[in-house]
Amino acid sequence: MMDIKACIFDLDGVIVDTAKYHYLAWKRLAAEMGFDFSEAHNERLKGVSRMRSLEILLEVGNIKRTDEEMEELATKKNDWYVEYIRQLRPDEILPGVQKFLDELRMNGLKTAIGSASKNTPLILERLNLSEFFDAVIDGTKVSQAKPDPEVFLKGAEELGVNPEQCIVFEDAQAGIEAAKNGNMYCVGVGKPENLNGYDYLIAGFEGVSFKNIVNNLKK
Ligand code: BG6
Ligand code: MG
Repeated sequence: MMDIKACIFDLDGVIVDTAKYHYLAWKRLAAEMGFDFSEAHNERLKGVSRMRSLEILLEVGNIKRTDEEMEELATKKNDWYVEYIRQLRPDEILPGVQKFLDELRMNGLKTAIGSASKNTPLILERLNLSEFFDAVIDGTKVSQAKPDPEVFLKGAEELGVNPEQCIVFEDAQAGIEAAKNGNMYCVGVGKPENLNGYDYLIAGFEGVSFKNIVNNLKK
């Protein structure tokens, strides 16, 4: 018998579309180094840590940098990114998300964020969503990147629930694997051609209710 007590959400691409702002900042960094960084390249950065993203960017530009230079480049990119997300507004919360969070609150479910982003607190604050999450596990609290389940397991622990009582919502393949590696249910958010291994897939939260998700997981 299913006994769901909590929902754990990835942030970027699930709650809010920050990929476009990451893209602007990475593209600007690439331009400064003299090469173009396309939207197709940017797809490779979804769900990937800041440093790993920079490694991929440098691969694309066929450029080598020392560790120290890479630290500086990552800081520069992040400063630009933070300038963008400081302007985020609650109307950028993805469609249906607020209603879904309200439903979870009304039904007494626990909620957490499980994200690689070190900017998570700023983003939640800008969206007026901080109070909707009982636990926030972000890139400052984990040592292992997804598909390692650490970020989600820490979320469950902080909420005081067992992994098998959690549903994770993820838009990145590595995140889906992280949830399954942690023995949690996983709802993929996105298109079937980009994702696999989820227990159920939604295109987004518009028109989606918690009860509807639980019913579909049972199958
Ligand atoms: C993930 C994003 O959530 O966070 C990645 O999908 C991003 O694109 C990563 O690189 C780290 O984010 P930040 O804000 O710490 O640079
Ligand atoms: Mg994501």
